[in-house]
Amino acid sequence: MPLPVVVAVTGASGSAYALRLLEMLLHSGRQVELIISGAARQVFHHELGLDLVGTPTTETIESAVASCLHAPGNAWQFRSVSGQASAAGRGTIRSWSIHDYNAGIASGSFLTAGMVICPCSMGTLSAIATGASSNLIHRAADVHLKERRPLLLMPRETPLSVIQLANMTTVTQAGATVLPAMPGFYHRPSTLGDVIDFIVARILDHIRVPHPLARRWGADAAVTPLIE
Ligand SMILES: Cc1cc2nc3c(=O)[nH]c(=O)nc-3n(C[C@H](O)[C@H](O)[C@H](O)COP(=O)(O)O)c2cc1C
Repeated sequence: MPLPVVVAVTGASGSAYALRLLEMLLHSGRQVELIISGAARQVFHHELGLDLVGTPTTETIESAVASCLHAPGNAWQFRSVSGQASAAGRGTIRSWSIHDYNAGIASGSFLTAGMVICPCSMGTLSAIATGASSNLIHRAADVHLKERRPLLLMPRETPLSVIQLANMTTVTQAGATVLPAMPGFYHRPSTLGDVIDFIVARILDHIRVPHPLARRWGADAAVTPLIE
């Protein structure tokens, strides 16, 4: 059984990246330890009309994926992966309040496959760069750095101040990967969903989760799943 993946959603623009990432982790049969910041809930409401209260369950997130990403005729036009179910079966989501330090992920003794912060606000980036640990997202990120486990931050901001650039350098030097929401266009996307999947595929590759999203440069098959 693969180790759980920690996913934190913070208040940068890009809620659709977070939902699509969660959809793919569930699809690949992963256990997800999920934390959503208060600002992220505001962005979910603003960008997707989604009101997430309390600690969302697997069913809450599946329902949000269906209504926000796959509603007929919406702007995203994500490609369906429902016919390509994982051998591992459906994944599960366990959510934590952002102030609940009783969560296993607040401790290095709780083993994980890594942590993804998607999207990552400049505020959360700064807190990680300084080791603030003032909420469960910062603490879990701190734990991943000290335990030398994968920590991936997907920031969304432009342009960038020297403070933000220095914070990105600091977390990279500490062992994190900064993977900005900076999609390429050489794969000739035809929908907004294709643009988002370009980034989600790179995130999943980084944490070694096989997925059906990537059209890989140099591969002649249209879709080449990652082999673990
Ligand atoms: C609709 C909306 C969009 C936002 N977009 C961004 C953004 O793209 N990048 C960013 O760093 N902050 C953005 N913010 C501001 C953050 O939400 C704010 O700095 C917050 O304190 C971050 O808190 P958190 O890191 O705990 O989620 C946005 C806020 C709202 C309401």
